[in-house]
Amino acid sequence: MTFMKNILITGGAGFIGSHVVRLFVTKYPQYRIVNADALTYAGNLENLTDIKDQPNYIFEKADICDTARITGLFENYNIDTVIHLAAESHVDRSISDPLAFVNTNIVGTATLLQAAKHAWKGQEEGKLFYHVSTDEVYGSLGDTGFFTEFTAYDPRSPYSASKAASDHLVRSFYHTYHLPVIISNCSNNYGPNHFPEKLIPLAINNILNKKPLPVYGKGENVRDWLYVIDHATAIDTILHSGKTGETFNIGGHNEWKNIDLIRLLCKLLDEKTGQEAGSSEKLITFVTDRAGHDLRYAIDSTKLQHELGWVPSVTFEEGLSKTIDWYLQNSSWLQHVTSGAYLDYYEKQYHESH
Ligand code: NAD
Ligand code: TYD
Repeated sequence: MTFMKNILITGGAGFIGSHVVRLFVTKYPQYRIVNADALTYAGNLENLTDIKDQPNYIFEKADICDTARITGLFENYNIDTVIHLAAESHVDRSISDPLAFVNTNIVGTATLLQAAKHAWKGQEEGKLFYHVSTDEVYGSLGDTGFFTEFTAYDPRSPYSASKAASDHLVRSFYHTYHLPVIISNCSNNYGPNHFPEKLIPLAINNILNKKPLPVYGKGENVRDWLYVIDHATAIDTILHSGKTGETFNIGGHNEWKNIDLIRLLCKLLDEKTGQEAGSSEKLITFVTDRAGHDLRYAIDSTKLQHELGWVPSVTFEEGLSKTIDWYLQNSSWLQHVTSGAYLDYYEKQYHESH
């Protein structure tokens, strides 16, 4: 069968990647989707059981730092489009192990860029290297203002610094080698399949297990939350309608102080699990602040909304409700990912024995 596009999605077994893979596999049967993922602790093929047998889907266990393996994928599948999501993605882990972030996020991205450059040399027309990045490259805001596409980069954690470096490499390949690239920088995602080391799924898991809810510092830090499926639809829109060489910010104007968000999660979970109102809030525990903790992220996605007409599909209340329902209905997924290595990570991060 001849496909209209042959798309390599890296990191497709992770949280956001699995939603992007599902969207593309189901919406575009005329595209072949090759999911290349190293299956680190964050990669989980259980995220994709519903689409794994689709005729336009292929999984390849591959490390993006492995030049021979990546070059082979470009050749074997005649790859014309890359959606690059594979990364080390958790700020706390970047504080304890920064080199893993340098390796995957910087060396891995450079390796992929080189492979694309090599495969597409002289035939760049119709090709696209779409790089998925984060708003954290812009640094930390005070109480006012928003990140726009023109905000100067000012990363402050090893995670955001490694993502910023990868964005710079992608742009350098555009300017130097005319590689057709697009970059998007998105705010914090939440939704089904989110690994419970990040705030929202960690809080849901701890509330369900009646474990303390660790709030860093005073819980005053602000994050701008977007439902993961809305990130996937934004990537779809930008990939099909965005101009190469451009950058798009993605976000839904949805800022929450961590402590307010945790209280809302407690309230929703009390209601959904039939517990007495106020019982989950008692689990809130203020713990030592994260080193170099960015105060506030807030994204201005006017360009994406006005130029390409993308809008988020759900309100935060709807998205959170769907998310909690997913975790309540998928307790075996949660159990699988919170056994083994997760317990060691948790103990190290929160100095708590399990
Ligand atoms: P995740 O940690 O859930 O998933 C990352 C995936 O990449 C995993 O499946 C993992 O196995 C894979 N991977 C890691 N190292 C690899 C390697 N060397 N080779 C191949 N695969 C490898 O991350 P996520 O939250 O889904 O984030 C995906 C992308 O989106 C990242 O690039 C991240 O920077 C970006 N992003 C995330 C958020 C967010 O809120 N989570 C927001 C904006 C942008
Ligand atoms: P996180 O989900 O790790 O995303 P990021 O750091 O990339 O924004 O954290 C979201 C916010 O929640 C951030 O301000 C740190 C805070 N946080 C806690 O207060 N407690 C926790 O246990 C975690 C994981 C995060």
